[in-house]
Amino acid sequence: MNQRSMLVTSALPYANGPIHLGHMLEHIQSDIFVRFERAMGHEVYYVCADDCHGTPVMIKAQSQGKTPEQLIEEVGVSHRADMQGFLINYDNYYRTHSPENQAFSTEIYKKLRERGFIFTKTISQLYDPVKEMFLPDRFVKGTCPRCGAKDQYGDNCEVCSATYDPTELKDPYSTVSGATPVLRESEHYFFDLPKFTDFLHSYVKDVLPKEMANKLEEWFAQGLKPWDLSRDAPYFGFPIPDADNKFFYVWLDAPIGYMASFKNFCDKKGVDFDAFWKEDSDKELYHFIGKDILYFHSLFWPATLKGSDHRLPTKIFVHGYVTVNGAKMSKSKGTFIKAATYLKHLKPECLRYYFASKMNNQAVDLDLALDDFIAKVNSDIVGKVVNLASRSAGFINKRFGGKLSSKVYNPELTAEFAAALPEIAKAYDERNYADAVRTIMSLADEANRFVDAEAPWTLAKDPANDEKLQAVCTQALNCFKALITYLSPILPEIAAHSAEFLNCELKFNAAGTPLLDHQINTFKPLFARIDPKDVEAMVEDSKQDLKEAQGAQKSDAKAAQPAAPSAAAEGAYVPLAPEITIDDFLKLDLRVAQVIKAEEVPEARKLLRLELDLGFEKRQVFAGIKKAYDPASLIGRKVIVAANLKARQMKFGLSQGMVMAAGEGGSDIFLLSVDDPAPLGSKVH
Ligand code: 2FM
Ligand code: ZN
Repeated sequence: MNQRSMLVTSALPYANGPIHLGHMLEHIQSDIFVRFERAMGHEVYYVCADDCHGTPVMIKAQSQGKTPEQLIEEVGVSHRADMQGFLINYDNYYRTHSPENQAFSTEIYKKLRERGFIFTKTISQLYDPVKEMFLPDRFVKGTCPRCGAKDQYGDNCEVCSATYDPTELKDPYSTVSGATPVLRESEHYFFDLPKFTDFLHSYVKDVLPKEMANKLEEWFAQGLKPWDLSRDAPYFGFPIPDADNKFFYVWLDAPIGYMASFKNFCDKKGVDFDAFWKEDSDKELYHFIGKDILYFHSLFWPATLKGSDHRLPTKIFVHGYVTVNGAKMSKSKGTFIKAATYLKHLKPECLRYYFASKMNNQAVDLDLALDDFIAKVNSDIVGKVVNLASRSAGFINKRFGGKLSSKVYNPELTAEFAAALPEIAKAYDERNYADAVRTIMSLADEANRFVDAEAPWTLAKDPANDEKLQAVCTQALNCFKALITYLSPILPEIAAHSAEFLNCELKFNAAGTPLLDHQINTFKPLFARIDPKDVEAMVEDSKQDLKEAQGAQKSDAKAAQPAAPSAAAEGAYVPLAPEITIDDFLKLDLRVAQVIKAEEVPEARKLLRLELDLGFEKRQVFAGIKKAYDPASLIGRKVIVAANLKARQMKFGLSQGMVMAAGEGGSDIFLLSVDDPAPLGSKVH
């Protein structure tokens, strides 16, 4: 066999929040890949870390009366426990705030500077005179310059979807101190990304699937822009060498954290780090990431590596988001589920199996439909796989002293199970786990049909059938052995318990080789069905998590002395706007429109770009609904649009109207609907 060597990473979770099921999709996806490749005999290293730097971590630590170091230490403990709880088998789970990462970040930066890829430019930014700090956009709020809505973020209005510069906000205030920010100049350090345009343009075609590389074409068409990689003190990060009170922006040192975590591991274990990272390394490097951080991983990261003489990622595997019951995870519905809350109620392998059964190598969203989750886990793992063992093991243990027959009873069935190996292996290797599970489950159906037809419980009634009974049960147990071996990258714990029961090592490449004349151990229950009450309890608990988080946020906010918090954000009574006359109202022209295209605006946290058909014309509208809606789910949907609103030129294009929605913003936004027969373009009165 041609042994491959690879380093696999998952995106580094931020150290300012808990791990939730959205994260788990990625860590489960990469863990299955790693377990499979290891089972095929390849050398695979697998690392991750906490992403520790940046203003949010600094502010959170302050509000809790801790140092950032204390906060990241505590968070690190809980993140590691969550990963372990879900059986994610990292070789190293480190942190970006580490000596290794500082050394690499500094070295890479210096190399880029030497090569002429760093330049400085003075820019103006909002500054909090009380806290004496520059304010990132998300820490400035104020009144929308376009629609007058209060308490809007520094870059985007959640009410009218306008995007603007924080300096355009009316009555701005710092959410850190409540003070009115002032404009202040500061010199920033920029990475000259445009110099890498030609290199990146061809590189992304090698490293990303075609659809993803095509998506990047839009970014290339807009032209790559220099990247501001410095932040002013106070900032929790690494100081920029030869610069006064400047720090690396968190996204500069975050991916370098992959190297640092691996270095930390190599130093402990005596593995050759350079062999993996030198420019001409023949080792493979795979990053698993979500589609929201594609820009950083496919442009900034390869360019920094290229500019500093390091190797480049072999492939970047991009996945979509998790939805729950068909909608974005929502705190108020109890579907924003923390990893720890899940683990309090359910076994990790239930989620691992369910995710795997729906996972392919496309960046599409994956829905955790809770009823389907219960049904699928119970019917597949318990009904089709584990029951195969429990139904046959009793006879072998009680009637034959635990000894398997020495003959294969049904050679065709045995051959069929062995022959499935290449197809299953290909599906795992290509990260088409859904295909692997489908093939394995159709084998399980075969095995169950065999047992039903041979009916060992009937054979057992007459001792004259003993030989046949032993042979049939042996065949069933060998089917079980093959199935659980094929499933072992997904269900490692059940596989380990099965290996104990079968009294043999489960080798992926020999999954279909039957155990004959072999002594097995007593069968102990391998897995229990999901009780729907446990799922209900998990959802209820998640609602409770929200209440606790709101309580904590209030006390965080108190410690940080913010300005009056947004009433809307707390679900409280929002005062009515001043009275208007019918004439005022009639100025508004609302029309029925249909979404014909919907896509994310990669550089905007909250915006989707919608193409609307108003019957008499088509329009483009940017709507701040990214956190609440999957673009794909909007296609064909009828919406209400404020059609006579003056078109507005935004950074990303012209927005010709406003889509009407209720709700408090973020993931709690609800688009207005209209009964389906309403013709496109009809007026709303
Ligand atoms: O988006 C995020 O959650 C980032 N913390 C991911 C960083 S991945 C890598 F670049 F460090
Ligand atoms: Zn607005």
